[in-house]
Amino acid sequence: MRVAVLGATGLVGTTLLKVLEEHRFPISELIPIGLTSIGNKVLFSGKEWTVVSPEEALSLKPDLLFGMAGSDVAKQWIPRFVEAGAIVVDNSSAFRLEPDVPLVVPEVNPEDIGQSRLIANPNCSTIQMVVALNPLHELYGIKKIVISTYQAVSGSGREALEQLKQERSGIAFPEKKRFYPHRIDLNVLPHCDNFLEGNYTREELKLRYESRKIWHLPNLSVIATAVRVPVPVGHSESIYAEFEEEVDLKEVYDVLSSAQGISLMDNPQNNEYPMPAYVAGKDEVFVGRIRLDQDNPKAIALWCVADNLRKGAATNAVQIAVKRLGL
Ligand SMILES: NC(=O)c1ccc[n+]([C@@H]2O[C@H](COP(=O)([O-])OP(=O)(O)OC[C@H]3O[C@@H](n4cnc5c(N)ncnc54)[C@H](OP(=O)(O)O)[C@@H]3O)[C@@H](O)[C@H]2O)c1
Repeated sequence: MRVAVLGATGLVGTTLLKVLEEHRFPISELIPIGLTSIGNKVLFSGKEWTVVSPEEALSLKPDLLFGMAGSDVAKQWIPRFVEAGAIVVDNSSAFRLEPDVPLVVPEVNPEDIGQSRLIANPNCSTIQMVVALNPLHELYGIKKIVISTYQAVSGSGREALEQLKQERSGIAFPEKKRFYPHRIDLNVLPHCDNFLEGNYTREELKLRYESRKIWHLPNLSVIATAVRVPVPVGHSESIYAEFEEEVDLKEVYDVLSSAQGISLMDNPQNNEYPMPAYVAGKDEVFVGRIRLDQDNPKAIALWCVADNLRKGAATNAVQIAVKRLGL
């Protein structure tokens, strides 16, 4: 299979190449695509592959394309790859809410993939939230989610990570080169992406609209506060979930401990709970600190952490491709 990667040199693209190698994905030819890195080599499966422009990649007619660049680049190029016959899994936000493009988390709605030639990968924060809650939704019916995220800097791409690294090493970061409007090291920003309707940020609205689409629940109540924290990799989420039916805590532990893609880590007496420092490089969504709402038997609080570059992006995209191609 000729596999192209739009954005092969970015944080997600580089992680995708690792995940493809780990999965022994059947690739006869890799076509890495970039902009500033055109002509550079990337190492994959023990060979060097030259980064090409999107135009050149298009002429090479890949069978499969992973879109791992920003949404403007995706809007410009992805329809052209689909038209040229490629199956595309796109990780940007460009097509996620298009009605005819499935938005898929394989643990939750694999049946939505069908025969689509373009499939969208949800936002990193949405993926881990729906993976953690889906087994409970299947038992009790999800009604309302109140979520606060603690999002890693790698979630904003390599320029943001550069800002964190430089601030952490004590070198003053030039204000005009800053990715964020404030310093990020030794700080916490209640601000991820632009402010939009009702003073919610784009990241907060993604949690609302993407989870509604994935679960086919157009009226699901989701209230999010997305926060950037000075952590390199691994998004954490504090989730309050209210269900249609009463929750049985033992059943919650049982179902989460055997659910696909979830690692239950909930032993607070031994200081065991998920933390970003320990999930980096792993594919599961880690769940812990599960508590019943002491005033509402239909609601629980929990804490969930996942590697935003892997399950939040690259791993989920590879899992979609595996399902779509029946590998
Ligand atoms: N980071 C995460 O945790 C995460 C999670 C979920 C979704 N996403 C989404 O994934 C996408 C990539 O994020 P990232 O964090 O990997 O970004 P990044 O580190 O900034 O990398 C951007 C990539 O896009 C390429 N690129 C930029 N403009 C291009 C153009 N005009 N033509 C071709 N390639 C171009 C760059 O190539 P050069 O190196 O050649 O310049 C680079 O490979 C974004 O849509 C982001 O929202 C990210």
